[in-house]
Parts: sequence; C-alpha cells; structure tokens
Amino acid sequence: MTEPDYLARTREAWGKMSEDFFEPGRRAWGQKEWTWGIWNAPESELKALGDLAWFKGKRCIELGCGTGYISAWLNRLGAYPTGIDPTPEQLASARLFQKEFGIEFPLIEACAEKLPFDDASFDFAISEYGAAIWSDPHQWIPEASRVLKPGGRLVFLRNGILTSLCTPSTGPATNSLVRDYFGMNRIEWTENEPEEFHLPTGPMIRLLRDSGFEIENLIEIQAPDGKEIRFEYITSEWARRWPSEEIWIARKK
Ligand SMILES: C[S@@+](CC[C@H](N)C(=O)[O-])C[C@H]1O[C@@H](n2cnc3c(N)ncnc32)[C@H](O)[C@@H]1O
Repeated sequence: MTEPDYLARTREAWGKMSEDFFEPGRRAWGQKEWTWGIWNAPESELKALGDLAWFKGKRCIELGCGTGYISAWLNRLGAYPTGIDPTPEQLASARLFQKEFGIEFPLIEACAEKLPFDDASFDFAISEYGAAIWSDPHQWIPEASRVLKPGGRLVFLRNGILTSLCTPSTGPATNSLVRDYFGMNRIEWTENEPEEFHLPTGPMIRLLRDSGFEIENLIEIQAPDGKEIRFEYITSEWARRWPSEEIWIARKK
C-alpha cells in the first residue's frame, strides 16, 4: 500500500510542532490521574473507559501516540501498550520520556491506516486526537477493527462536530455555522497545518457499524465552570455552551 497523499505534509508539520508538545507531554507523563482532552476532563467523572481493573494484562494500541502519555497511563493500569505514530520527532520525545519515567513499551513508526500487526492482536485501541483527527476515518477505523480481537474496544477522542462546523479558517469557533455539514470530512485549515478529518455524526455511526463495531457511548465534553481559557481555535465560554470534544466508545462484535 502506498502512503496516503496527506501523510508527508502531516509528518513534516508534526515534526515542526513536536517541540511545542514536549513540555505538555512531560507534564502528562507525570500525571497520576487519567484526564481527557484540552479541558483535562477527569476519567473519574466521564467513565469512558469503564472498570479500570479490566486493563490489567490487556494488549492495547495507541493510534497516533505522539509523546506517548496515554500509553504510559495504560501501562500504569497494568496493560501492555504499543504506541504507533508516523512522526519520528514525536516518537523521539516519547522515547526520552520512557527513560525519564522508567516506563518501557514498544513505539513503532507507522500510519494508522496500515498497521504492522496481525489480525486480532489487541484487546483495546485508543486515539486521543492522533489518528482520530489526522487520519482518514474510512481507512483507519476498518484497520483498527482488523487488529482488534472480537469483543475488543475502540475509544477515540476528537473535536466535537459542531466545533468543525463553527470554526473559520483562522480564529476560534464562532456562534455561526461556517461550513457545510453534508459532505464534510477532510478539512484544510491553513496551508501550514496538517490536513484534518472531521466526519459528521451519521456517517461516523454508519462507518463504525460497517467496520464491525457496536457503538456503546458518545460522550460530549463540556468545559468546566470557573476557568477562562482561550485556545487558538476554541474558548472555554464557547465550550461551556457546545461540545468542543467528544469521545466515541465502540466494541468489535
Ligand atoms: C496531538 S498528537 C496526539 C498525542 C497526544 N494524545 C496528544 O494529544 O498530544 C497527534 C499525533 O497524531 C499523529 N498522526 C498524524 N497522522 C497520523 C496517522 N495517519 N496515523 C497515526 N498517527 C498520526 C501525529 O504524528 C502526532 O504525533
């Protein structure tokens, strides 16, 4: 299989951005509590993962692991994680953190659309942003299904679909719809950024089902009260009114 057409640009852009993700990555590696996304929503409240004791001894794959902190948290739960990512600079950061924090697991340079693993190799697959945003869902979701065992779970966090609909090319999400819902998937925000994928809800449900999954939950994250934060593309004020992030939980039949 040849590389997807977007991947060279993605790799180059993430190579450049990796410096900005180094210190946040280190902080996340040191974090004891599992949290989700940009608002650090606690897993203890969202319960996206179910019983954490389940993870002991389970084989897990992180699709687009970046600096690898999610895999480090899986390791602390007693699981056997493997992180894959196509960007060497991000994997280099993850390797440094493995030494610093004394946690080792396989880190493999690969794209989520073509995984170097046999069918039914894993009990659990996860992507927090990663493949969930920067890989074509029509390719990576069937591939995740292939490497999961029957009964295995797929959990991924991505931007809420309203965020994509309300965000112009530059600046944070607005109170208006600025792009079409029908036909949305691949989005180029600016020339300097990697292209992203934001498949709407109905097509995502059908894709997961067609790929052999049952959908167990869709958790829409609300920004917490009392903290005013402004990211380039979202404000906490916006994200208290509409879901800026969502977690999909699906099980392979
Ligand atoms: C934001 S990081 C995700 C890691 C971490 N959860 C975080 O939020 O920092 C995004 C990662 O997705 C990776 N990525 C981009 N395209 C990918 C693809 N096609 N397959 C797998 N990973 C990909 C990038 O290389 C980057 O390291």
